[in-house]
Amino acid sequence: MHGLFDIHCHIIPGVDDGSKSLEESIKMLEMEYKDGIRNIILTPHFRYDMFEASEETVQKQYARLVAAASERWADLKLYLGCELHTSMDMVECLRQGKRRTMAGSRYVLTEFSGGDGKTYVKERIQKLKFSGYYPIIAHVERYPSVRDDLDLIEELRNMGACIQVNADTISGKDGFGMKRFAKKLMKEDLLDFVGSDGHGAKSRTPDMGKAYAVVVKVMGQSYADHIFIENPSKIIS
Ligand SMILES: [Fe+2]
Repeated sequence: MHGLFDIHCHIIPGVDDGSKSLEESIKMLEMEYKDGIRNIILTPHFRYDMFEASEETVQKQYARLVAAASERWADLKLYLGCELHTSMDMVECLRQGKRRTMAGSRYVLTEFSGGDGKTYVKERIQKLKFSGYYPIIAHVERYPSVRDDLDLIEELRNMGACIQVNADTISGKDGFGMKRFAKKLMKEDLLDFVGSDGHGAKSRTPDMGKAYAVVVKVMGQSYADHIFIENPSKIIS
């Protein structure tokens, strides 16, 4: 694969709390491209009572974005995914094709709530795994019950979950404590993916370049490429 990946972002215009217009989306893609990103899995939220854009709307807006991006960048690849907030019926909905996986793969970017406890997290991961999906836990740093327990993170990985952290956590933009947590994850070899979780062109911007530089500095080039290229390539293939 050519270039780096961003596997978690809200760049499709008008489908969630991310980009509000095609113009804003293009600005965000410019930021990604400048940072060396050449492959992006676009992951609009799906969460009951909050983000429930219809499949038709998401597909239409995705197609608009792909058309506009292809005019500007011949070597920027866009794929469609979803950040799926957990619910008791999530597996059933995935099976029925009512929810999207990551780029048509068996990987599911799985979001929890900040207050979710260890038991619920384990149950959801187990259910996905038993049903033949590969859960990617979205921004693991956001859930205190998981973040504060590295043994649990290891257990979840042994169960078959992948771990994603946000670029701003790694770069230090979200504070020193978060940066220290990300470093610990990397040193313990518990990290699988980094995503920008970019939501806009002015605030919560996609900022993968800084995170990539930090990972190269802390862990070396081959580890960084493993996280930013090799692991995400597996989703696509
Ligand atoms: Fe997100």
